[in-house]
Amino acid sequence: MTLEEAKSKLSKYGQEHVLKYYDELDDKEKKELLSQIDDTDFEVLKNCRNLGKSEGRGEFSPLAAMQVAEIEKRKNEFLQIGVKALKEGKVAACLLAGGMGTRLGSDNPKGMYDIGLTKPVYIFQRIIENLLDTVRQADGAFIRLFIMTSEKNNDATVNFLREHDFFGYPEEKVTFFKQDMAPASDYDGKVYMESKSRISTSPNGNAGWYTSMLKAGLRDLIINEGIEWIDIFAVDNVLQRIADPCFVGATLDAGVDCGAKVVKKNAPDEKVGVMCLEDGKPSIVEYYELSQEMMDAKDENGDPAYNYGVILNYLFKEKALFDIARKELPLHVVEKKIPYIDDRAQLIKPEKPNGCKFEQLVLDMIHMLDTCLPYEVVREYEFAPIKNKEGVDSVESARELCRKCGIEL
Ligand code: UTP
Repeated sequence: MTLEEAKSKLSKYGQEHVLKYYDELDDKEKKELLSQIDDTDFEVLKNCRNLGKSEGRGEFSPLAAMQVAEIEKRKNEFLQIGVKALKEGKVAACLLAGGMGTRLGSDNPKGMYDIGLTKPVYIFQRIIENLLDTVRQADGAFIRLFIMTSEKNNDATVNFLREHDFFGYPEEKVTFFKQDMAPASDYDGKVYMESKSRISTSPNGNAGWYTSMLKAGLRDLIINEGIEWIDIFAVDNVLQRIADPCFVGATLDAGVDCGAKVVKKNAPDEKVGVMCLEDGKPSIVEYYELSQEMMDAKDENGDPAYNYGVILNYLFKEKALFDIARKELPLHVVEKKIPYIDDRAQLIKPEKPNGCKFEQLVLDMIHMLDTCLPYEVVREYEFAPIKNKEGVDSVESARELCRKCGIEL
């Protein structure tokens, strides 16, 4: 893109400030900035207007979960189906590690965080150790592990895992890909600059993984290896069971497009997204969208009807995702802390949210599918998220949960 073309694109979107320091840049920086302007989709910025407004949602109704008691009863049957699929290489795992972990406030990728007390125990290490449990259950069959990073944390992630020999996972079974980025702006939709030559960007949300995977040309590998199912999971749950054979078996047996691990809510108003139906299709209702009526609703056993919260662990039928991949996922506006350069070109790392990021969310992906099986897991064994420095869902709370599960830290 030439300078003239860049000026005209920027003026169309009211973003002329992006070139404020252009004359001071060296040739390489100039080229990089022009190329970033060329690549950036400034259309997304108009979504700023929607910050804080609730999305138009359909009509919610309950979706029953398969509960622990039933899973226990049918465990052997599910294990058999799951282990077979794993051994046949039909199941892959995909670690979503493109997030910025702004709440935890570490500059490194979240997975590099050391939660150990008497020895180093990195989050990535916990994840791989959990995946190795699955490998053992599948009689040593290593499954393909995709790792989604972003351009911000890719090199640090890859180098860290290489330095640690992938914590015992074979490198040839690991495939990295980078997720797409979206510009980040102030509340008026003006993009922030993170340096004189770079527009602030952030990863485009936890649902960006599948299209980013396709863009990275990984469909060929999926087809060649005969992968039919992909278990996606968050980096920050250190008790995460990955592609666990019982869950795989139950999902395959149910003949659904997707399985979703869920936990029983602690309280009717707990701040988790709840699995449900929306206009008859699977969906997730956010905690702030739950009306009192929905919180009070009961199922046929007299239990709360909206009682199962999602933990960001889903097993997707790959073919079903490929079929919906042409449809555009909506973009959500989220308020976040965005580093930027001020009027004197000093880099500021704000303490409080200062603008908007634009993200695609996995709930919209699920809503595009026809069927989903909510599969209950026991929170104390499988859910220890690390979101914050202190308090709820923090390193401390996760350590405590690990301790209770007998994991040495
Ligand atoms: P979170 O929603 O907790 O976001 O991600 P985050 O970026 O890690 O943390 P905060 O909100 O800035 O503090 C849940 C999971 O989704 C991944 C994260 O890496 C984490 O595993 N994720 C999130 C992505 O891979 N890409 C994204 O764009 C967003």
